[in-house]
Amino acid sequence: MKELHIAQVSEKVINQLPKGALLTVKSNDKLNTMTIGWAALGRIWNKPILTVLVRFSRYTHELITDADSFTVSFSMDESLKQAMNICGTKSGRDIDKFKECGLTPVYVDEVESPYIAEGDLHFICKIVYKNTMEPELLSEEIKNRWYKDNDYHGIYYGEVVKVLVKE
Ligand SMILES: Cc1cc2nc3c(=O)[nH]c(=O)nc-3n(C[C@H](O)[C@H](O)[C@H](O)COP(=O)(O)O)c2cc1C
Repeated sequence: MKELHIAQVSEKVINQLPKGALLTVKSNDKLNTMTIGWAALGRIWNKPILTVLVRFSRYTHELITDADSFTVSFSMDESLKQAMNICGTKSGRDIDKFKECGLTPVYVDEVESPYIAEGDLHFICKIVYKNTMEPELLSEEIKNRWYKDNDYHGIYYGEVVKVLVKE
């Protein structure tokens, strides 16, 4: 694994997100991963920050509210396509996604949450801020398009402590 700066991978991330990435969280000895398609990469508080959005209904939401970290793993080819389909439609409440999809967690020194070995670009993030969406502050257009069922997002800001790519 080689370490990179976020600016070296920002374009890849933006192009790759619509195809999905795996958000992995470990908290209180519970481990889960889910597919995400929305995230923001940038600079806040003079830190590199990756922000992810997790709806309240997700099992991942139960874990991430108590967690101090998360990771996001991308695959630049099609090798994680099937895993992303499963991890984006099945819940960790019902199945062990690591077992079901043949995914391998890799633990790092900096945070508790592992990344997924089968990916090839990984963001290791320490959570520095969490908030929940306030519907009354949201534009009507977005509310009607994405939140008809009132399943709003928790928003998690991770300080990117490491960006790792497969060599
Ligand atoms: C391509 C794709 C992108 C997704 N992006 C998100 C997302 O950004 N946030 C979210 O809350 N759910 C997203 N989902 C849905 C979750 O991955 C899905 O509900 C998953 O089963 C939740 O798993 P969990 O209950 O184990 O947390 C996405 C699903 C797919 C297929």
